[in-house]
Amino acid sequence: MLAQMLRFSGEALGEARSYKLISAIVTPRPIAWVASRNAAGAVNLAPFSSYTFISYNPAKILISLGPGVDVLKDTLANIEARGEFTVSSVTAEFLDSMVDSSFAYANGESEAEALGIALEQGSSVATPFVKGVAAAMECTLDRIIEVGDRDHHRLIIGTVTCFHVDPAVWQGDRIDPKAYRPLGRIGGPLYQERGEIVVRPAPRERVSRD
Ligand SMILES: Cc1cc2nc3c(=O)[nH]c(=O)nc-3n(C[C@H](O)[C@H](O)[C@H](O)COP(=O)(O)O)c2cc1C
Repeated sequence: MLAQMLRFSGEALGEARSYKLISAIVTPRPIAWVASRNAAGAVNLAPFSSYTFISYNPAKILISLGPGVDVLKDTLANIEARGEFTVSSVTAEFLDSMVDSSFAYANGESEAEALGIALEQGSSVATPFVKGVAAAMECTLDRIIEVGDRDHHRLIIGTVTCFHVDPAVWQGDRIDPKAYRPLGRIGGPLYQERGEIVVRPAPRERVSRD
């Protein structure tokens, strides 16, 4: 006989258990390593894994930011103030510096500088991205949506104004999925490198190819 599914009421779970559960179920998550500048120009760098793309004409991405401790997270305050940011991809060689950059440095103190992370100038925005990453996107702010629930999440939607791709992961007219190996977040301190890739064409493609 099949064991009965465990069942948890969303409302009754409470914040900590709810976070544990949802962040373990919705995995692996890509990681947006977000650079932004504060009003004085200092570059802030922090990772966010509540992240996806939401459209492609033009390409738009979405990042969900939780509340900061006492004040807004620097990333949110900076993007609100400047209307732009960049997103760098995170591959294995950047794991340690990406994790270290999630430490809550004071506003105006640059994680990139403190951790010795080299940056490369953006071309369509004044915010740099991380030098040497496999891919990066420059973005202008489209809008910020307040989710409005008890945990005060804000959704940042950005329009991609420029893509950067390392030629080492480029083949023909696209990114080579075997060469491009972004890390996935599994929850808490757990990360995953991309495993074996399986190929399964969508049904219509299967028919038209036969
Ligand atoms: C891999 C990883 C993913 C994270 N994802 C998120 C996220 O999706 N949303 C969020 O609010 N914080 C997330 N954090 C925490 C932020 O990185 C952290 O709060 C950081 O200090 C924010 O920096 P800031 O204040 O400079 O913006 C994540 C941390 C790590 C290590």
